[in-house]
Amino acid sequence: MKIKTSDIVISAVAPAQYPEDELPEIAMVGRSNVGKSSTINTILGRRNLARVSQNPGKTRTINFYIINKEFYLVDLPGYGYARVSKSERASWGKMMETYLAGRPNLQEVLLLVDIRHDPTADDKLMYEWIRHYGYGRIVVATKSDKISKNQQQKSIKNIRQKLQMASDAKVVPISSLKKLGIDDLWKAIEKQFEENDLPITIE
Ligand code: GTP
Ligand code: MG
Repeated sequence: MKIKTSDIVISAVAPAQYPEDELPEIAMVGRSNVGKSSTINTILGRRNLARVSQNPGKTRTINFYIINKEFYLVDLPGYGYARVSKSERASWGKMMETYLAGRPNLQEVLLLVDIRHDPTADDKLMYEWIRHYGYGRIVVATKSDKISKNQQQKSIKNIRQKLQMASDAKVVPISSLKKLGIDDLWKAIEKQFEENDLPITIE
């Protein structure tokens, strides 16, 4: 994928703010601190487009980034962040459900999991949920720089098993630190665009 342009369009807190142009969207979900915002920056070749933090709970809004004026990458707030109140958790759930369930132009939802760890109970629930909506064909295993190639293979096998992934679904390892896995992730996204018959220019 050749990235010609990438810009933030809106940080939305309510559906009325979502872009209305019906361009295809690819969203990132996963627990807080797993590397969703970092992955967006990395695959776009941008340093600070999406805000990144060492402290979990950085992304609090639904952020729409427009790529090549053709499609959106969507950064979502993470889950599993212990220091949030019950009411915040409820509003997070509502915001996610409103977005994920009511977005016809949403083409794929990527679940991001940390390559070093077993998927959490929340990861499993999230994966079941996105599968229920027909997504979940691509899982991204983040922070691949933290373990060896050999361990990565084992870990990917474990992730597939724990999430009960279908044989045609893909796990793509990525490292934002070392800038690894970028082409593989774009290839997987492009394949999804092709399968969904979308006129995205692939160069
Ligand atoms: P929330 O917005 O809180 O949901 O988190 P997020 O999933 O957007 O995570 P974010 O991209 O902000 O990254 C969290 C932390 O992980 C930051 O300190 C990043 O520098 C670090 N990080 C992200 N990706 C990688 C990676 O590939 N390798 C390493 N070593 N660290 C990473
Ligand atoms: Mg974030």
